[in-house]
Amino acid sequence: MAENGHKPFKLKSKDMFAMSAYAKSLANDEKINIDVTANKQMKKAYALGKEVYETKRGGRGLSCLSCHSKDVIGGILRTQPLPDLGAPTVKAAATWPAYRMTKSSLRTLQRRFQGCMKNALLAVLPIGSEEMVALEVYITEKAKGNEIAIPGLKR
Ligand code: HEC
Repeated sequence: MAENGHKPFKLKSKDMFAMSAYAKSLANDEKINIDVTANKQMKKAYALGKEVYETKRGGRGLSCLSCHSKDVIGGILRTQPLPDLGAPTVKAAATWPAYRMTKSSLRTLQRRFQGCMKNALLAVLPIGSEEMVALEVYITEKAKGNEIAIPGLKR
């Protein structure tokens, strides 16, 4: 956008979410085929994403893994089943940006991460930060082989 003389959309704006959804929807029906060993940058992002995912933080000492690990998947938290983020029924990375019914708006995967961080009392990492991008790479790898279907429809 900057190169073409436009003022870039803010990362957290509706316009940017809509643009992300449109761009990713161009790959609808294709399978996620991320290669996290493709180059130095990818390897680094994957490792950092895994670290962020597994590190316990915040007032309750929880990590993403505390609620999204094989041991607890299928459990129920405040009436909501804990989803396996890589499962073909959830396909997390293949279905975001998604329309969230509880928020009446379109949200990106990173925005969804922030929702979990807030609920679980983890300090909320900024959208677009190195950690958030890394987390997105890590979660996308979990959904490898799943068919992209944008926009998703979520609770
Ligand atoms: C305290 C438990 C808990 C923790 C900790 C937690 N989550 Fe969640 N997460 C949930 C629950 C419950 C849902 C499903 C909620 C729903 O359906 O509305 C969910 C949903 C999600 C989804 C959406 C899945 C879909 O439907 O596509 C993503 C992505 C996600 N979590 C990522 C994360 C990440 C990344 C972290 C760490 C920063 C994290 N979660 C930490 C409980 C947790």
